[in-house]
Amino acid sequence: MCSSAGKLDPYSSLVRVPIVGGHILSGLTTKIHRIRHGRIRKNLALRDRLCPINFAHYLYDFPLSRDLDVAVQPDKPRDQGEIEPDSVGHLTATLPAWVYYSQDFFEAEKQKIFLSSWQLVGHTSDLPEPGCYITFQLYEERAVVVRTQDDEIKAFHNVCRHRAHILLNDDRGTCPGKFVCPYHGWTYDLEGNRTAIGHPTSFLPHDAQHFALSPVDMEIYGGFIFIRFRSEGAGVAERMSPVHEEFMAYQTLLMTPEEKSETKPVMWTHAVDADWKVGVENFIEDYHFFIGHRGLFGLMEEQYDREPLGPDVARLSHKMRARPQPSWSAEAYNKLLPDQTHLPKEMRRRWTYYALYPNNFFDCYPDQVNFFQILPVAPGKSLLRCQSYVLQDDSRAMRATRYLNSRINDRVQDEDNDLIESVQKGLISSSYQSGVLSDKENLVKHFADFIRDKIPSAAANIPVKSLH
Ligand code: FES
Ligand SMILES: [Fe+2]
Repeated sequence: MCSSAGKLDPYSSLVRVPIVGGHILSGLTTKIHRIRHGRIRKNLALRDRLCPINFAHYLYDFPLSRDLDVAVQPDKPRDQGEIEPDSVGHLTATLPAWVYYSQDFFEAEKQKIFLSSWQLVGHTSDLPEPGCYITFQLYEERAVVVRTQDDEIKAFHNVCRHRAHILLNDDRGTCPGKFVCPYHGWTYDLEGNRTAIGHPTSFLPHDAQHFALSPVDMEIYGGFIFIRFRSEGAGVAERMSPVHEEFMAYQTLLMTPEEKSETKPVMWTHAVDADWKVGVENFIEDYHFFIGHRGLFGLMEEQYDREPLGPDVARLSHKMRARPQPSWSAEAYNKLLPDQTHLPKEMRRRWTYYALYPNNFFDCYPDQVNFFQILPVAPGKSLLRCQSYVLQDDSRAMRATRYLNSRINDRVQDEDNDLIESVQKGLISSSYQSGVLSDKENLVKHFADFIRDKIPSAAANIPVKSLH
């Protein structure tokens, strides 16, 4: 229990109200706008009985068993320079700094966001033959997706059912016909059935089927393989429905991995010292382009589409300049890009990005489609994961275009990595609590709303315990 009164921050729509001796302790004269959590005894939602109401009138009236988070509207006159609420009643505040480095919040994200989220593992073309597999890790959960003998794609927990050894340690590979656990040799077919064990007579009789590999929820969308560790909520296709038609025009079903040089792996991964949310927020705003990405800014027009489409999908898009600003790569890309007639005309010289929250992105270029993913590793640390896919076109012009695309975007990625690692350092500074967002950052607010909806305490400017 807290012993000090809750503070009202003009930029925050939510305050923590301490409960002392089982009663609300607060001198706030404000109206309850929305109760985020908190229950009166007998388990009745306070919201059902009090909203909206003058908080001051009800001080001490309702015994509560724990601290309460309430969204409030300040009733004092606003000072000049304060931020006005937007049309839906929220203030344009960023998430507070503590959520980017708190261990408690990181654990809450696992339970309330990530385990039930769809995660992109790869593309069906990454698994061309039976036995080809890709492994995937999210927090402590591990999965393997594999092409079976029947030419299906299946997903399993990558954990042996004997005594829990990790079954496959490589990121990807081929296991012709079977998985063999490296610890005691339990063997599974590609359908996950346990087919052999060492020294079978040393075990009491038991049902082998009971020890088959545990399946993981999987969905294939546009050829991309998604998994989730907890089956909860809508599927990928349903979530992507607002952008489905446009996305399908890229023909991702027919794509195959772009062949990189021998020194460049097919899938690119990179560890960054930045929280996954810092990476997502950086991806979904263009406010930093003019100063952070001079090369990209020279190639693309300033007009940028930033559309929130439902609670967890967003579309971002910009058109190539008719005449790029001086830069060898941008000018050459602009000149060489072949007319991609499978795309509608307005998409042939446009780069479009789709975000599927919490952390998956499709970067759709006329010449290729990349998936990009930011995986949480620890508070303030994440892993970037990216792979490019292309339609069959071995022409010299297309090969040059793709090379130039990589050259431009590799540079953008390096610039972004520096930006987000610097932001992470600033977030930990005692001087920073929260910031304010511009119109160009409307999707950062959309994403913050997504987080606050999943974990309401993310609206509190001070760390909140007991988030689970
Ligand atoms: S843990 Fe896999 S065979 Fe024993
Ligand atoms: Fe960027």
